[in-house]
Amino acid sequence: MSSSLNREERLTLKILIAEDQNISREMLVKMLANIGQIEAFATGLDALKAFEDALDKSAPFQIMISDISMPVMSGLELLKAVRASENKKKIDKQNRIRVLMFTSYADKDTIVSCYRAGCDDYAVKPFNKKVVIDKIKKFGFTIDETAELNQIDETKQKEKTMGQMVADAIEGFKKGKVDLPALPHIVQELQDLISSPNASVTDMAKIIENDTAISIKLIIAANSPFYGGVEKTKDVKMAINRLGLDVTQSIVSAIANKGLYETKSVSVKQLMEKIWMHSFATAHCAREIAKKVSSMGYEKAYVKGLIHDVGATLLIKNIGENATENTAIDINGLIEAVFEVHASFGALLLSKWNFSKDFVAVASLHEWNKYGDKTEREVLIVNLADILSCKIGYGFFSRDVGDFEDNRELSNIQSAAMLGLTNSDLKVIYEKAEKDVAESASAFAKV
Ligand SMILES: [Fe+2]
Ligand SMILES: [Fe+2]
Repeated sequence: MSSSLNREERLTLKILIAEDQNISREMLVKMLANIGQIEAFATGLDALKAFEDALDKSAPFQIMISDISMPVMSGLELLKAVRASENKKKIDKQNRIRVLMFTSYADKDTIVSCYRAGCDDYAVKPFNKKVVIDKIKKFGFTIDETAELNQIDETKQKEKTMGQMVADAIEGFKKGKVDLPALPHIVQELQDLISSPNASVTDMAKIIENDTAISIKLIIAANSPFYGGVEKTKDVKMAINRLGLDVTQSIVSAIANKGLYETKSVSVKQLMEKIWMHSFATAHCAREIAKKVSSMGYEKAYVKGLIHDVGATLLIKNIGENATENTAIDINGLIEAVFEVHASFGALLLSKWNFSKDFVAVASLHEWNKYGDKTEREVLIVNLADILSCKIGYGFFSRDVGDFEDNRELSNIQSAAMLGLTNSDLKVIYEKAEKDVAESASAFAKV
């Protein structure tokens, strides 16, 4: 061990982290493990409690790193509470905790409010180890560079490979080097058709019949036990007549969407299956939520649930398929790298595909945890559906079933509260979705 600080001294630097997204929190903890003593919390309230306990024990934290957007207590609220507590205890300026805020959006208004509330610096996600360390140094803390360098090299190399692969894939899409799959046309065409007041079975059949593969798959799905009628469906029109326009739209969207998750790449095959089931479950949850909170548009919510993670889907698929036998794919590294960009990339894809604004909004905002009063209902519905999909065992990214082991009150989730859903409503919703996912997944297994 060398240079400026020995291990004991290094570990006297106490860092408090508040970040609700599991992946991001774990990344930060890993990043800073060698720099100080880290305590990380998923909620602002827990972080505040740890901050106060440490103050009471005269072993205060020197640095706080907080996400701005967190449910229940935002980063800004946490910052205000921390400063208020320091004021009350008459802690002088140089002994106050140094606060670094992180945001997913370079949202000027929020940043200005954070400065007003007393933050010392801010950075925009995704986290970059060098940026975080430079900011800590700027606060006036010394960091053991040699010990650090080794660690940076190791993580950086891993991050670089996965991060670089993700960046290359995004470039490929942006430059049109990658063929976009067939999803957009039929899903969007049906969406447009269904929004028009004169939509007819004939019009819908015409759109679907243009794609023979999808037509056959629709008939197979329509004849599956989940959708099964007395009379066996033989053609597209019969299927639409029996299922109705809305349900047909959902089935076709699911079929078209499912094609995106198919891959020959062995390294990401399992991951793609997992994200398909996650999207499918999110769609079912979104449909049940929509049924409870609005009088129409269930199938629209279903389609939005299906495509909410399209950015992640296409990135992972592309990376898997372009990897040569010699490229080792570090699945966790890939998930981390994709997570940070999937929402904005999904929004970009959907706008490129000429999807309407409401679709783009869902892709871009579904991971957001702090919603304003004017947020579109469908964004809230998909955000909540995404979370409920974990509750029924189909989680992806940071939201794991583990999040609910502590019996967190589901109605405390901001989107649930804004939609006016109680715990018992939510139970009915996810139980119905769980049952439907289990029963209808087989209808799509063969298509
Ligand atoms: Fe997502
Ligand atoms: Fe998701």
